[in-house]
Amino acid sequence: LVASMEQVEETYIMVKPDGVQRGLVGDIISRFEKKGFKLTGLKLFQCPKDLAEEHYKDLNSKPFFPKLIEYITSGPVVCMAWEGAGVVASARKLIGSTDPLQAEPGTIRGDLAVQTGRNVVHGSDSPENGKREIGLWFKEGELCQWTPAQAQWLR
Ligand code: TYD
Repeated sequence: LVASMEQVEETYIMVKPDGVQRGLVGDIISRFEKKGFKLTGLKLFQCPKDLAEEHYKDLNSKPFFPKLIEYITSGPVVCMAWEGAGVVASARKLIGSTDPLQAEPGTIRGDLAVQTGRNVVHGSDSPENGKREIGLWFKEGELCQWTPAQAQWLR
C-alpha cells in the first residue's frame, strides 16, 4: 500500500533556456500532458537573477552555482505547475537523472540532452519544494483550478 503515491500533489516544472532555444517546449509539455497530469500554471518568463538565486539557494555554496544562475537567467524559461497523484516523484522519473548521459532513454534528459549544465528541464524534488517553488515562480492569480473533462479516467 503506497499511500503517498495516491496523494494529490503539486510540482514545479520548468523548461530551461536551452529547451526554449532548441524548440523543445512542446515536446516537454506533451510528456506531462499525455501521462495524465493536470496543468495548473503556464508562462514564458525571463527570470531575474535574485529569483534564480532563491530557487537554487540550497546549491549556493557549490562551485557550479554562478554558472547555473548565468544559465537559468540567459533567456526565457517556461514555468509550469502540474498537479496529480504522486506527480512529484513521477515527474522526476519522466525527467531522468541530473546528468543527461546517465539518464535513461525515454526520459526527457535521456532523449534530449547531453550536459548536466544544459539539462533542459527542472522538476521539484519533494512535495514541500513543489509548493515552495510554485509560490516563488507564480503569483496567486496566475494559477488555475479546473476539472478536466476526462478526470475520471486518470484516478
Ligand atoms: P540538482 O538539484 O542536484 O539536480 P536536479 O536538477 O536533477 O534536481 O542540481 C540543480 C541543477 O544544477 C542541475 O539540474 C544542473 C545544475 N548542476 C550543475 O550544473 N553541475 C552539477 O555538478 C550539478 C550536480 C548540478
